[in-house]
Amino acid sequence: MEVVQTVNDVRKALLSARKSGTVIGLVPTMGALHAGHEALIEAARRKCGVVVVSIFVNPLQFGPNEDYQRYPRALVKDLGICRRHGADIVFNPSVDEMYRTPQLTFAEVTRVSEDLCGKFRPGHFRGVATVVLKLFNIVRANRAYFGEKDMQQLAVIRRMVADLNVPIEIIGVPTVREADGLAISSRNEYLNPAERRVAPVLYHALQEAAGRIRSGERDAAKVRETAMAILRAEPLMRVEYVEIVDPSEIQPLSTISGPVRIAAAVWIGGTRLIDNVGN
Ligand code: PAF
Repeated sequence: MEVVQTVNDVRKALLSARKSGTVIGLVPTMGALHAGHEALIEAARRKCGVVVVSIFVNPLQFGPNEDYQRYPRALVKDLGICRRHGADIVFNPSVDEMYRTPQLTFAEVTRVSEDLCGKFRPGHFRGVATVVLKLFNIVRANRAYFGEKDMQQLAVIRRMVADLNVPIEIIGVPTVREADGLAISSRNEYLNPAERRVAPVLYHALQEAAGRIRSGERDAAKVRETAMAILRAEPLMRVEYVEIVDPSEIQPLSTISGPVRIAAAVWIGGTRLIDNVGN
């Protein structure tokens, strides 16, 4: 496995694969790799001749009062995980390498990025779309793999790729969960033991709401209230949002008439968790 830090070096490392027409798979990450990332790398490994994992904590997608400074960084452990799961190249650029010149150009996907997390994290999806588009241009992969836990991020990236004719196939990989249902996330490590014990309530609330849809409820407000009531009953949780949305444009719905996603964000102490399920 090759570890490279610069745009030139990752391009050089991919030259022969590109010449021979080998399928290149990209797994963009911010490091602190866990079982969710392992599933992405394995999915890429199954379908691609060369697997590139990028590890870059992107300052552009963090708000001024967010956790950019304390975001977990664990490069040595991450490289071990990449090696064990069959990555060929790890691209681990510095902030200066990724943003060589002050960034004056941004990728912004309107509408899809405006509700849910977009409402509470202004600029977040612009930062995500911009760095992802940069990574796509740097690596020029055939396929890129993203987790379905970050449903809105995945929808934003799919829409950017469609709208801007980016020649890459986007693959969503199902959320990996702990045995108690908690979606695996790098931020779970912020939780203290008491907070960790209540965290699975988020998934439980979403499942109950999905169950109401499966039993025939079509009024999104009632479905939403099912999840809200469960979350509100948990004193350690503060609900940021619960919404029932259409899966492609992430627009809140009032009536449920087809496939939807039920998505929520909660705070437990100083940790923000998101999750989503389908009906
Ligand atoms: O999901 C993440 O880890 C990040 O948002 C991504 C896609 C790597 C962009 O920085």
